[in-house]
Amino acid sequence: MKIISVVGARPQFIKLGPLSREIRKNHEEIIIHTGQHYDHEMSDLFFEQLEIPKPDVNLEIGSGYHGAQTGKMLEGIENEILKHKPDLVLSFGDTNSTLAACLAAAKLEVPSLHIEAGLRSFNRSMPEEINRVVADHTADLLFAPTEEAVKHLECEGLADKTVMTGDIMADSVQFVQGLIGENRYAGRKYSVLTMHRPYNVDDPEKLKKLFAGLEKLGQAILFPVHPRTRKIVESNQVSVPGNVELIKPQGYIEFHGLIKYAEKVITDSGGLQKEAYIAGKPCITLRPETEWVETVEAGWNMLLDVEDPGLAEKIAGFNPSGKRLNLYGKDVAKRMVDVLEEMLS
Ligand code: UD1
Ligand code: UDP
Repeated sequence: MKIISVVGARPQFIKLGPLSREIRKNHEEIIIHTGQHYDHEMSDLFFEQLEIPKPDVNLEIGSGYHGAQTGKMLEGIENEILKHKPDLVLSFGDTNSTLAACLAAAKLEVPSLHIEAGLRSFNRSMPEEINRVVADHTADLLFAPTEEAVKHLECEGLADKTVMTGDIMADSVQFVQGLIGENRYAGRKYSVLTMHRPYNVDDPEKLKKLFAGLEKLGQAILFPVHPRTRKIVESNQVSVPGNVELIKPQGYIEFHGLIKYAEKVITDSGGLQKEAYIAGKPCITLRPETEWVETVEAGWNMLLDVEDPGLAEKIAGFNPSGKRLNLYGKDVAKRMVDVLEEMLS
């Protein structure tokens, strides 16, 4: 099989790592990087640390309004599909790069696979929700990470093209956990914070409320800052309390070192909610809803509004200790490639 894998943003490089390794055992893979993320620590560093071959093509689309960014990606990916004539176009998650990959393949009637299919927040004000729905309805094959995702796909009439495979990030985490060394923060008492959702960070007043809540919490917070968030903090001169330490985005290995010694994880990231669960860290998700409901049902994830006046007390009081079942599977990349070989041979 000749497979084009399309990636563009940090979480997609992380998902590509284990799958690319498995694909390349018996198949040809061409990696297209849309260039949606481009800073060294948001992109190249992940290819190095996850041992992913350099992209065959970088479309270097960069940042922009959604329509312009997605449109340029669509054109670039279309050209590459026409040039390479793949048997399959593969995409991950819910970014604009995912949307462009699924649309480009659908328009050219080239089979496409959407990985991490079936996630729903049922909140259409999230750009990701629109991307997911369109990706699932245009792709030919859907790999769902959880039973919950399978249920959503069934409700939308997509059961025929759905396969429950487990979550590829289970493999990414397994890979990185074998690489974590001693961390310079080991021995310190801290929690980790990440934030990048537009509805949390694009309004500086919300960020100020969050920082006020975290100041009240009093505990040391290490905050690797996403470039979107850094831009808002800096351009609005949002003052950061003394207990919150802003650091640059971390490599995958360093970041998992941070998680390993952290007391809690506070985040609005999708992937990190699962990683915190797997690592056994209480996760406070700064969102009104989550796609990863099973982590909440298991008692290890708590939803919290950044503007909640009781933010500090609620974070301090969240101390789960219940059992953690394996929710996301094991050797997922192998299962995915096995399914592909069976279906496409
Ligand atoms: C994107 C995805 C989001 C995903 C997130 C992962 C969409 C609509 N959003 O959000 O689903 O969860 O990636 O991190 O696809 N920037 C830099 N350097 C970079 C990349 C971005 O400075 O390498 C800055 C730019 O100012 C840019 C802003 O971050 O305008 C936002 O980047 P963009 O890729 O549009 O959206 P994200 O918020 O990163
Ligand atoms: N991550 C990382 N370094 C950081 C912050 C996050 O390696 O400084 C990893 C994290 O472990 C997770 C992924 O990046 O796997 C999450 O990416 P992001 O929050 O950008 O996107 P989302 O998961 O919300 O789509």
